Amino acid sequence: MNAIMKNKNRTNQMMKKTLLILISFTSLIACKTPETQKAMIEKESFGTTQDGRDVERYTLVNSGGMRVQILTYGGIITSLEVPNRAGKLQDVVLGYDQLSDYEKSSPYFGALIGRYGNRIANGKFSLEGTEYTLVQNNGNNHLHGGTKGFDKVVWTAEPLEQEDKVSLKLTYLSKDMEEGYPGNLSVEVLYTLTSENALEIHYLANTDKTTVVNLTQHSYFNLSGGKDILDHILQLNASGYLPVDETLIPTGIVADVTNTPFDFTQPKTIGRDIEKEDVQLKNGLGYDHCWVLNHPEIGMRTAAIVSHPTSGIQLEVQTDEPALQFYSGNFLDGSHPMKNSDGFYAKRAGFCLETQHYPNSPNEERFPSVVVQPEETYTSKTIFKFTNK
Ligand code: BGC
Repeated sequence: MNAIMKNKNRTNQMMKKTLLILISFTSLIACKTPETQKAMIEKESFGTTQDGRDVERYTLVNSGGMRVQILTYGGIITSLEVPNRAGKLQDVVLGYDQLSDYEKSSPYFGALIGRYGNRIANGKFSLEGTEYTLVQNNGNNHLHGGTKGFDKVVWTAEPLEQEDKVSLKLTYLSKDMEEGYPGNLSVEVLYTLTSENALEIHYLANTDKTTVVNLTQHSYFNLSGGKDILDHILQLNASGYLPVDETLIPTGIVADVTNTPFDFTQPKTIGRDIEKEDVQLKNGLGYDHCWVLNHPEIGMRTAAIVSHPTSGIQLEVQTDEPALQFYSGNFLDGSHPMKNSDGFYAKRAGFCLETQHYPNSPNEERFPSVVVQPEETYTSKTIFKFTNK
């Protein structure tokens, strides 16, 4: 009798369990948020350059709905939409509506920068006994790869879809002596949008002659949608920075940030010290300096965290690069038309966090080397990870 009762009880318990599993399974299906979708990548035409090159725009979407749009022209990120605290998608980068604006006069909005991010003094450097002369496109200095840097070329694109992420592979062959740089440089940039709301950027380059390479990404972020970025809270994992001369060339020393406006080791608003009386802030017209990141030996690590109190959006920048140029948009002067609007971007409407080697390294033996040999592969990785709180 007892044995029969036990069996009955066991059968009842098993039935209950099965029912529970069934209920949880069906409720799981019912709870699946409508926004959950398969990651995907789409292509559309974005017009033709003035010299007749076709330009495409790729839209990458992840399973949570985060969206990034990238042009084959300059590898430019034209929009980057991330969920804010209210769960609504918000575009967090500056940009234009039209290709002609990017071609006409862009302060490098959203673009890939190469062969050399930032300045090379007087547009000159020597390598293995040969002096190379580059264009002087920023006063006497060379800036961001020249008059036709990687921000102005049309890249070859290949979309890649995987289970939980989508990528866009961009490739470009920069010919020997292009913009004055030695070596045929074959470059690959892989943009990957992950299901964790991260945009990963992998850079690869190979050369057939000794050359210098320093690639970066020049997105201008604004996490609030407001007219300037002064109320954003920034933290930089850097206890040193590079003071510059009046033409923004580093003096060659690494200065301690302690007790200076350049100390972002603890979070503070970008605006807190930006107007302080300081010769370096004067030289940069605000922040336009290279911070030397702590712990280069670790490789991939957090370089910067920036957030906005109202939107709740937080951006974390991770990189394996030794440094980061923090530029507070000081040269924006109200002349650049704002996308999706009749307005213009005001001074400090966006900030850039450009992961890179130090400016002017080809002329500074004290700085980490940017020389790439034919038998080497240049690699660099940066992640822009978005969360909200
Ligand atoms: C530089 C600025 C320059 C800006 C171009 C930044 O990376 O540090 O000095 O004006 O790019 O818009």
